[in-house]
Amino acid sequence: MPTFRLTPLSPSLAADVEGLDLTRPLDADTLARLREAWQAHLVLRFRGQVLSDPQLLAFSRELGELDPPGPNPYGAPFNPAHPEINVISNLRDGDRPLGNLGDGEAVWHQDMTYVDAPPMASMLMALEVPPEGGDTFWSNLYLAWDTLPADLRREVCGRVAIHDSTYNSAGMMRRGMKPVTDPREAPGARHPLVVVHPETGRQALLLGRRRNAYVLGLPLPDSDALLDALWAHATRPSLVFRQQWRVGDLLLWDNRATLHRRDAFDPASRRRMHRTQIRGAVPVLAGVGEALAA
Ligand code: SIN
Repeated sequence: MPTFRLTPLSPSLAADVEGLDLTRPLDADTLARLREAWQAHLVLRFRGQVLSDPQLLAFSRELGELDPPGPNPYGAPFNPAHPEINVISNLRDGDRPLGNLGDGEAVWHQDMTYVDAPPMASMLMALEVPPEGGDTFWSNLYLAWDTLPADLRREVCGRVAIHDSTYNSAGMMRRGMKPVTDPREAPGARHPLVVVHPETGRQALLLGRRRNAYVLGLPLPDSDALLDALWAHATRPSLVFRQQWRVGDLLLWDNRATLHRRDAFDPASRRRMHRTQIRGAVPVLAGVGEALAA
């Protein structure tokens, strides 16, 4: 007997999961079917789930080992009792921010691709949401690859890009970093632009972040032109799902096959989210022949 119902939320990705109580451990069969649903839809939304921090950590650990948040601009965890949980919020205690990313736009990105082994999954749970704004969008990087025009496919196959670690998605410099003016000198991991998903075997673009990205071996203007074309293609509205948050929404996404971004919102309103990540592996280059034949 199915223990949950699945309803797709857009033609390209994301589905609602109904009928589960995430405050309790899931049985092995439910967990296995949840993993299948997650691989098929890339983003799963669970509504009405206000989990305590220990419950959020327990559910996250059902999917794998936790990957702690990257260094935030302020140098100390936002949730000292549970440093594996990141807080995404515009709230402040006087001058002290209580969370990361503020109230501005967070630009399109994959989480932490500036490290060699970026997280495979991320989860975001809404505890306070503004009356409007602050929507989050996900894009499907399998479909971005599948629908990429043949000339662009030939250009990206076998290519590797630098993933700058200097700035976060809100444009803030990470602690200990120096400003970068030439993307060819940006610090950060190097990853293939076309990768094979370790669980599904499907090919996907791996884009990370646009700022200070650089395709190794190309003159800078050619690298910029190629990356601009890839980003425009990968973020077309037909590949995107838009999430309008309610308190108790918990979204789980596959960081290996999706990009996400967030809209700005009114600084006078309150937005507070708790977030976890699951450890991933070093991305694997798609074989050139294999990728072009796909
Ligand atoms: C994030 O990029 O993880 C934050 C997204 C959001 O605030 O909705």
